[in-house]
Amino acid sequence: MNAPVAPLRPEPRPGILDIAPYVPGKAGVPGAVQPVKLSANENLLGASPKAIDAFRAVADQMALYPDGRGALLRQAVVERYGLEPERIILGCGTDEVFAMLSQAFLRVGDNIVQGEFGFGAYAIAARANEAEVRYAKEKDYRLDVDALLEAVDARTRLVFVANPANPTGTVLPASEIARLHAGLPPQVILVLDGAYAEFCVDPTFDDGMDLAREAANVVVTHTFSKIHGLASLRIGWAYAPREVAEAVERIRLPFNTSIPAQAAAVAALGDLEFQARSLEHVETWRPWLLQQLSGLGLNVVPSAANFLLIGFPKSPGRRASDAEAYLAKRGLIVRGVASYGLPDHLRITIGLEAHNRAVVEALAEFMRPGSDVRT
Ligand SMILES: Cc1ncc(COP(=O)(O)O)c(C=O)c1O
Repeated sequence: MNAPVAPLRPEPRPGILDIAPYVPGKAGVPGAVQPVKLSANENLLGASPKAIDAFRAVADQMALYPDGRGALLRQAVVERYGLEPERIILGCGTDEVFAMLSQAFLRVGDNIVQGEFGFGAYAIAARANEAEVRYAKEKDYRLDVDALLEAVDARTRLVFVANPANPTGTVLPASEIARLHAGLPPQVILVLDGAYAEFCVDPTFDDGMDLAREAANVVVTHTFSKIHGLASLRIGWAYAPREVAEAVERIRLPFNTSIPAQAAAVAALGDLEFQARSLEHVETWRPWLLQQLSGLGLNVVPSAANFLLIGFPKSPGRRASDAEAYLAKRGLIVRGVASYGLPDHLRITIGLEAHNRAVVEALAEFMRPGSDVRT
């Protein structure tokens, strides 16, 4: 008797179906009154008014393909940061920059190295290219340079460091980034993800741009999704060594950034008043939330970004997942981070004053001894 033959069908590349799909911050729960989304680290002040005007001004260009190289935005970035235009990569969000770097540099069986709680998009991009992900232990929710270096082996092609990090919000000083870079073999690309760099006022921090100017293996990324408030437009950029930018340019989809995104990004970059206001808002409410939530007995990780990571007790009814549900019922949508290996924590974006006060009030009630947290 012939053995049964499996029917032929389309098969994705090995490993694709093992990738856990990226779970974005929830937008709301059915039935909750006016849900407030504090789950995706967006800018609760909205977008720069100048960017909104610029977006509207190109509405009649919808029928046209964009300039694939994004010349005007490229020029705006070059002028603002003092960079060489041919070393800029524009992406459909920085997520696409990570995906393009992975596609261009990872061979089957290579690996990337990241922190144990590192941002999920790096791993998805690596696995999509049949590469492995090596996680380096963190200390006190902070990347540990020695552990990162230990994780690097002969098959490592990319090391991803978000600084400040997501979901922890912690920061590595420039001296540690320099030490990490000095310990890497020259063929390994160090990606310094500055998604939250604009919110960091720690004097020991810099975004690595000076290192990237000189080094042949450092890429610095910045996004328009956070301080500039353009998350829906999907636009970000990177400063890369010339050879890296040239390699990525060959696989970039021809029109990966849109006309409205490019126009809004140029205007946002020039709107220093909005950037200052956004930073000031975070600088006002970040310490307040830290102090208030710590006062409730919660373990708040000091943050350099526009969100806070909050540790909850392990006792039934007072766990992070209970708190997430409790807040959701009150219309406050926050981010459970169990998928990041942090089941006892929630990540909460710094909101407007009313949101922040509502979070503290709700969590005070949630943590109050004897209170019935089931409702
Ligand atoms: C650390 C980090 N890097 C990059 C991104 C993605 O940014 P973009 O919207 O530019 O794809 C995020 C978004 O949450 C992030 O947290």
